[in-house]
Amino acid sequence: MKITLNLIVSLVLATTIVVSIFTFYEVRQEKERLSRELEIRAAILAESLEGSANVLLKIDSPSLFKNQIQRFINYDSSLVVALYDNKGNSLVSTNFNLSNLPDSVTHIRESINLRKRISGLTSAEGKSIHFFVAPLNYQNKILGAAMIIHDESNINASINNIWQTNFIHLLTQILLIVFSTILVVRLNIVKPITIVVGWMKNMRTGKAGHQIKMPSIDLFKSLTDEAALMANSLAAARTSAEVEARLRLESESIWTAERLKEYVRKEVGSKNLIVVSNREPYMHVKQGSNIECIIPPGGLVTAIDPILKACGGIWIAHGSGSADVETSNGIGKISVPPEEPSYVLRRIFLSKEEEEGYYYGFSNEGIWPLCHITHTRPTFRLEDWAQYQTVNQKFAEAVLDEIKNETKPLVLIQDYHFALLPALIKSKRPDAHVALFWHIPWPNPEVFGICPWQKEILLGLLGADLIGFHIQFHCNNFLESVDRFLESKINWDQFQVEKGGGITSVKPFPISIDHGESKLHEKKLNRSKNELKEMVYKHTGCSSRFIGVGVDRIDYTKGIVERFNAVERFFEKYPEFVGQFTFVELGAPSRTHIKRYNELLNELDDTVEKINIRYQNKNWKPIIFLKAQHNHSMINLFYKASDLCMVTSLHDGMNLVAKEFISSRDDEDGVLILSQFTGAARELIDALIINPYSIEEVADALFTALNMKQKERTERIRRMRSLLREKNVYRWAANIIADLAHLQVSAVAVETGL
Ligand code: G6P
Repeated sequence: MKITLNLIVSLVLATTIVVSIFTFYEVRQEKERLSRELEIRAAILAESLEGSANVLLKIDSPSLFKNQIQRFINYDSSLVVALYDNKGNSLVSTNFNLSNLPDSVTHIRESINLRKRISGLTSAEGKSIHFFVAPLNYQNKILGAAMIIHDESNINASINNIWQTNFIHLLTQILLIVFSTILVVRLNIVKPITIVVGWMKNMRTGKAGHQIKMPSIDLFKSLTDEAALMANSLAAARTSAEVEARLRLESESIWTAERLKEYVRKEVGSKNLIVVSNREPYMHVKQGSNIECIIPPGGLVTAIDPILKACGGIWIAHGSGSADVETSNGIGKISVPPEEPSYVLRRIFLSKEEEEGYYYGFSNEGIWPLCHITHTRPTFRLEDWAQYQTVNQKFAEAVLDEIKNETKPLVLIQDYHFALLPALIKSKRPDAHVALFWHIPWPNPEVFGICPWQKEILLGLLGADLIGFHIQFHCNNFLESVDRFLESKINWDQFQVEKGGGITSVKPFPISIDHGESKLHEKKLNRSKNELKEMVYKHTGCSSRFIGVGVDRIDYTKGIVERFNAVERFFEKYPEFVGQFTFVELGAPSRTHIKRYNELLNELDDTVEKINIRYQNKNWKPIIFLKAQHNHSMINLFYKASDLCMVTSLHDGMNLVAKEFISSRDDEDGVLILSQFTGAARELIDALIINPYSIEEVADALFTALNMKQKERTERIRRMRSLLREKNVYRWAANIIADLAHLQVSAVAVETGL
């Protein structure tokens, strides 16, 4: 109320000052204009009198004189005209007693003597007077003079009028200001604040449950955004406290973000956990004149981000976003996640040549196809290899800089982009505990043997104290490759390699996702199955009784073409599903700079078009291919609305999409069709496991999935969910960090092999 009053008083004061200043100027101008007018009028009249001076000077009757004056001007009572002879003696006057006018005689004589007009203001009988004296010149002789007097009270009347009118305007404005201020404050401030307060109260008391969506209020957008974030944290903290309490009662085997945080604190103390990967978790990109922060697709980011959110630390990664430089500080650092910073991202910026050779070339045209046996030939170029070494060295320098003040630092390196990094770090910092997790498969020695720099890669990797793969099979392949190509001692009982005084343990760590109940408040969509399907139909413009979904980075290892062909075969074999089932592929374009990936995009478009042309009708399509980077909530909507999810990778280290689909289905429904060539197939045995190369088998799996009884669907998914609940990403991280922290690190500098 006080604020409203202050606001009103300030507005009224400001308006009054502005109106007064403007009125003052208006009055001044008006007064000048009217005086000028009087002067002109008097001059014109004087000139007319001069023309008839010889006649007029002979008139001695005032009434006759008045009549003569009337010929020249509309006579009114505010006007007095008097004539004088050339000595200055009064001859005739309209009605004024001129003796009352101060200095009149002096003015007249002066005018006659100097032959000039004299005018000015004076007052008489309490009135303001304007006088004008002019000599009457007839045939070059001064016959006398005329005095013209105007009463100025008319001017004052019109000035008063201006003040009055403007005062009435001011009053009206003040009334309007008071009224609209009260209205605006009520509608735009008091009402929204009441809504926000009510909403916050509900959040605080837990009445809102997991419904933390903020009422949208334009005026307070930044405030409500901040409050929504706070509410999010509050809801997350509340849920996690509930979960923790429940888990304490239930079992000790479930890992949560909180538990990992405590664990890491105990194991690592005040040290920073250093994570290194090529792909950054938060990328800033320019969209027109705006800068957007996006989360790149791919399993690595999905898995590591929750860990650093829980434990804090430093993530060193390639800054590849178009606005990455301008959003980080001088050495590429930025706190993330942007909405609730919990760790530091240090971006390493690469030149075009470095990115070409190291990322597109050696990593993705060499090692990627080498390790994924999917009939795409690896390409190894000397210049790519040179850039790969340069960039590994560049990252090594950044890591060494971050750990320079720490003893026995913990460094967790990710993936095939950094095979040389472990040895580069250990050669300088033998006390560092270094682990590398290889997120993709490791091939058998025959396949690995085609790499021209096999020895250098193996030596680089063996700089690590610990190397992790998703499954035991890949560990075996790795040790066999070491056995085949290097002089070393392999301890097959312990799964360790001894080389140059250093020991490397090789172990499987099946990666997972944050299935945690701590995230359930985010995942809940609180919609019925039909409502979800409606939302999907709205988005795709295609209505169908059954929906299948696939979510991938568009990569030839994912078997997407094979999947589409299987959908076509399914319609051939089971025509009763034509018009009844739609398969939606959410594909995020990836590495499109590489020819093979570009060709794949075209191949997918052609395949979809061919199948759709064959089967589609007016309102229905067999396949909808949505090529874009979809955000988590959109993907979640499709997962939840679908009857089945297809993962048909031709070769995949783990595949977290399979796990995310299961995790999203809190309704305990939906069927997962899963390739036998994924790491995930070893754990998610209740999925329909298929060989993606067998189109018949996959088409039949679609049929089985769509005909599966509700009870069986629920039982299968329930078992898989319970597995994910236990084997989540926090457990994965805890296992790796525990091994890394407890390793007996031999403080011997290793050879880099370069
Ligand atoms: C796989 C790799 C990751 C990579 C991701 C996305 O999951 O194992 O290291 O980040 O694909 O690929 P991109 O090339 O876009 O980083």
